[in-house]
Amino acid sequence: MKTLEFTKQDRVLVTGATGFIGSRLAAALKSEGVKQRLFIRGESADSKDPYMQYSKGDLLTGSGLDDALEGIHTAFYLVHSMGGKNLFKNTEYADKDRNAADNFVKAADKAGVKRIIYLGGLGEARDELSEHLKSRMEIASILSSGTAAATFLRAAIIIGAGGASFEMLRYLVERLPVMVCPRWINTRIQPIAVNDVIAYLYGCLNNPETAGKAFDIGGPEIFTYKEMMQKYAEARGLRKRIVITVPFLTPHLSAYWVDMVTPVPSGLAHPLIEGLRNEVVCKDDSIDQLVKINKTRFADAVKLAFSEEKSGPGVTGW
Ligand SMILES: NC(=O)c1ccc[n+]([C@@H]2O[C@H](COP(=O)([O-])OP(=O)(O)OC[C@H]3O[C@@H](n4cnc5c(N)ncnc54)[C@H](OP(=O)(O)O)[C@@H]3O)[C@@H](O)[C@H]2O)c1
Repeated sequence: MKTLEFTKQDRVLVTGATGFIGSRLAAALKSEGVKQRLFIRGESADSKDPYMQYSKGDLLTGSGLDDALEGIHTAFYLVHSMGGKNLFKNTEYADKDRNAADNFVKAADKAGVKRIIYLGGLGEARDELSEHLKSRMEIASILSSGTAAATFLRAAIIIGAGGASFEMLRYLVERLPVMVCPRWINTRIQPIAVNDVIAYLYGCLNNPETAGKAFDIGGPEIFTYKEMMQKYAEARGLRKRIVITVPFLTPHLSAYWVDMVTPVPSGLAHPLIEGLRNEVVCKDDSIDQLVKINKTRFADAVKLAFSEEKSGPGVTGW
């Protein structure tokens, strides 16, 4: 366990550093004085700060990975390939994600990376999982197949400005006082505040006992999707939403609907909507013994998401 211990002399790599989770993690690591390197696809900034390095590359081709992983103690894997505007081309992400994780784990082995910390999705393998949730689990096993000790954190919807699932929730509730929803509206979910997710990721880095293990992470409340929508409206001071349940709305039709009402790209929305049928609730709380955090209540997480931005709904990266 000693060799897995992270010290302030070591450096971490953050993949997905431009994303919802990765950008917040990088900011948190910076404020904690952790040496880091950000792996990014776009133009990398030039940094004179020895604590903040940038490395350009692409997980799909594997370009730049050897340089990025050189001398890295722990690598955070915070990447997925969903996206795009084409509703009918939303199954390619699983192949891409498999390829990206393969490239990553091979390069991590070569570089002698000690730990990988990955954030994926909750859901029970024995349930009929959506393609998205199955793919997130597959990535966990690929990342665990190398020599680095992999930690797998599993979360449901993460509440924070710019998170894809949160943006779907907020645009739907803000814009539609009356909603027609399929049966998944009664599926149970355990949302978690983005700050709590960052605290768990950072806590895992600092506790080598979390290496090589999988943990469920969630907030203090469990809701059905319907209850979560009403709680969102309440936290925002909106009138109670009228929700009508119908049996015939397919994920495909729902994705068209989400495409019209929200700015979330359909290639990202569709796989997420397909997953709404799966219950995503923590089945194990062993993380609480190893990483102690004060869990944020849902209403506070929603308020925090709004306090992060100046102009309220309408401001997203899409
Ligand atoms: N958001 C949620 O509610 C939620 C819930 C549970 C779990 N998670 C998990 O959290 C992790 C991060 O998700 P997120 O919400 O932060 O996603 P996100 O905001 O969409 O960010 C995805 C990141 O991946 C990068 N990326 C994609 N393809 C890449 C490639 N080929 N090479 C290098 N970088 C690539 C993107 O870079 P570009 O900027 O270049 O596109 C971006 O930085 C995922 O594993 C996801 O399953 C998220």
